[in-house]
This record gives sequence, structure tokens and C-alpha cells, in this order.
Amino acid sequence: MNSVAAKTDLAFQKCIAPRCGATYGIDEIRVQCEVCGDLVDVVYDWDRARPPDSFAFFEQKWSRRADPLCASGVWRFFELLPFAPPSQVVTIGEGQTLLQSAPHVASYVGLKPGRLHLQYEGMNPSGSFKDNGMSAAFTHARTTGAARAACASTGNTSASLAAYCSVTRLMKAVIFVGSGKISYGKLSQALDFGALTVQIAGDFDDAMARVKEASRDLGIYLVNSVNPFRLEGQKTIMYRVLEGLRWEVPDWIVVPGGNLGNSSAFGKAFAELREIGLIDRLPRLAVINAAGANTLYELYHRRGVRWNQGSPDTGAIDGYYADLDSRGRRASTIASAIEINRPVNLNKCLRSLEWCDGVVREVTDQEIMDAKAQVGAGGLGCEPASAASVAGAKQLRSEGIIGADERVVCILTGHQLKDPTATVAYHTTDQDKFNEVLGSRGVKRAAFANRAVAVPNDLEEIIKAIQLYS
Ligand code: F0G
Repeated sequence: MNSVAAKTDLAFQKCIAPRCGATYGIDEIRVQCEVCGDLVDVVYDWDRARPPDSFAFFEQKWSRRADPLCASGVWRFFELLPFAPPSQVVTIGEGQTLLQSAPHVASYVGLKPGRLHLQYEGMNPSGSFKDNGMSAAFTHARTTGAARAACASTGNTSASLAAYCSVTRLMKAVIFVGSGKISYGKLSQALDFGALTVQIAGDFDDAMARVKEASRDLGIYLVNSVNPFRLEGQKTIMYRVLEGLRWEVPDWIVVPGGNLGNSSAFGKAFAELREIGLIDRLPRLAVINAAGANTLYELYHRRGVRWNQGSPDTGAIDGYYADLDSRGRRASTIASAIEINRPVNLNKCLRSLEWCDGVVREVTDQEIMDAKAQVGAGGLGCEPASAASVAGAKQLRSEGIIGADERVVCILTGHQLKDPTATVAYHTTDQDKFNEVLGSRGVKRAAFANRAVAVPNDLEEIIKAIQLYS
């Protein structure tokens, strides 16, 4: 395809449909298979790539943190995603994230102390997990000589792309957002970082369809998670989870589902680790939809759609979308990051669910906001979409699917400050504000609200208030 600055011969691209299996060079820009239209994977020749035979190899890189490739939480695992030469790798310090034990949230979910961990991806440079994938997609874009990169976004992908463009100056960012559909925290990042911000009169699904067309017509490199290199970077979230657990595989990974990139990447990460012999079992995977954006839940849980050896029931899937369209149903949830009805990675996610003996659930905006308040009270903080993972774990625990003793990791995908409007509305004493932001979405009460105390500007009154409430 485009000019190839440097090549690696350890990897190639391959259509995920086993009945097709078309292959493409690693230097090609592909967001779907040319032959059958399905998604493509990055595939490695492990015999030649020769990955390390022990996790200790990655640990010793901690001592070499002056090297940016060792400091990055993505590229520290370079040998598990060797699709580009090290000289081409782009890093802005992504992946310095931690697996935290969360006793307060464990008790809310119904797990025994010490059994719940939160993987806090809000600590990334642009405040969400997206930076893991962006550093990888950006690296690939660089090897193709791209001058511009584009995405559609509910806010975090665009913030991430804008950050990589402004820090590295390697490419110009073009972002497509649904008008009025992204939180101010995220919009402000894209504007601040100087991205060309195109507000489409429509929602994420509209923006996604348009960005695919526009980037194809203009030859702009697309960094949405249909880009298989994005998912290579997102695999490393699971490597860090394992690292945090002293390389023991947890029982459950629970993740919010939007465009289904993470769930796709996580399954691939574990399947590859097993293939190269670094682990001997896979965790179970739970993907959690918001009830107002529940395509995966509808298809998987209610209509029985499965990976089916690479031939999911396309009739059922197309029928569902036709039904959404005929009823004019649009995604709608306070978790704006996952307000998506047409997840582009559906087939890869179905494959991960198959590999990881997965389950799919939906949670209401009430459950999301309550779980979010509990995460905040536990001291980490996240945006609404991230809290879907905790709400989902609680639901699975109460159904008995997750046992009280099992080791569960919930992924907190985005930072608390991404969407302060939702947080303040939950804790407010102003009923109109509550109704406007949350009541309109079916949230009836804020059971865990921490209300600000209004006092006159008078020392005696202030002291009285502190004594009364503390
Ligand atoms: N959590 C957050 C905070 C997100 O921003 C997203 C996706 C998801 C979860 C869902 O992840 O797509 O891998 O299932 N945000 C995209 C964006 C769509 O444009 O920022 P997924």
C-alpha cells in the first residue's frame, strides 16, 4: 500500500472468518477483509518471533525504565505485539496503570475481601484506556507514512488521538463526534489539543459510518478499533492485570461493552498467551452493556447469536439492526462512552466470548450511577461507562454466576473527571439538575449521594455544620 518506512516479517494480517482466512501484509491499511468484509486480525509467526518463555522477562524491564520502550506499559510487552520495528514505536508514556485491590467495592459487589480488583485505566495520559490502543495504531500509521489520522468517537478515542497528534506532531487529527453526544471533559481535551473537530448532526453510529467513508475517500488513516492494531495495544491491559496478580490468571474479567474493542482484545491476549505457553487457562469474560445501548446483550443473551466457528448468524444480526431502524431506536444512556448500537467489533467479541466461556449482561443507568458512586467512595473514581463493569459484576454475583470467593477484575476504563456533569447531578441537592441529567434517563434516586452542605458565610454556622455532619 502506502510507502513503507520499515517492515517486520514476524506478523501479517488475516481475516478472522475461518472460511475465508485471506491474508494481507503487515504494512497494509485494512479495516476489513477485501474478500468477505469481515474484520481482520494481526497474526504473529510465533516460531520466528520467539516470545519469552517466562513472564520474568517483562518484569526485569522495570529496572530499565530510562528507556521509553520499557517505561511504557504497552511497549514493555513489545515481544507480545512485534508488528513494527522498535525504531518506529510511538509512545507518550501510556499504560502506567495499576491493578488496585478494592475492599469497599468488593463488599458492594458481594465478594469476599481481597477478591475484587480494579484495573484503573483512567491513569493514562489522556485519561482513558484508549491510549493503550492508540500508541499501537499510531505506530502502525507511522510505518505507513500517514499524514492524517481520523476517528469517530464518543469522546475518549478522540481525546487520545488528539493527544498523540499534538505531542508527537507526526500526524494531524481529524475527529468526528455526534453533536451534543460527548461529555465536556472529553470535548475540551480534543479542542485543547488542537484536533480538527467535526460535529456531525447525529450520534456515534452515524459518525462511525461517516468517518469510514470520509477516511476511505480522502486516504486518511482510521484509528477506530476496527483497526486491528488498536487491539494489539489494548491486549497489554490484560498483561498488566496478570502482572498485578503475580502472573496468576483471575477467575473473571468484567468489562463494559461499547464498540467491543476491549473484549475483543482481551480474548486475543489470553488466547495468544496460551498458544505460546505462558498461561494454561483462560479467565471467564463478562461483557456489560448499558441497557439503553444493548445490542450485544440482545443478540447474545436473548437471540442466541454465537461465534459459531466464525459463522455467526448474520440473518439474526441484520434482522436486529433492521428492527432498530424501523422503530427509530437510538442508543441512549448516561454512560455516553458506550452509547453505541452498532458495535463494529461484534464478531471479534463473539469469538472472545467463545474462547473465554463468556457471559453478557445489561445494567440500567440507575445501577451504573450507584456503582459509580461506590467506586468513587472507594477512592478511585471513574466515568459512568466504566462503572458498568462493577454494576455487572454485582448483578452476576447476585445471580450466583460469580462466586463470593472468586477472583474478579473489573476494568475502570475512564477517569472520574471525564464526565463531571453526571457525577455532580448524582450528588446534587438541586432536584431540577438531577431530573435534567439523570431523571430523564430513568435514574430515580441517588442512594449513595454525598450532598454538599450549604451554610451562610459565618464562622459560627460553619463550625455548627461541621460538628453536625462530621
Ligand atoms: N469505557 C469507556 C470510558 C469508553 O470510552 C469506551 C469506548 C468503552 C468503555 C467501550 O469500549 O468500545 O472497547 O467496548 N469509547 C469509544 C470512544 C467508543 O469513542 O471513545 P469498547
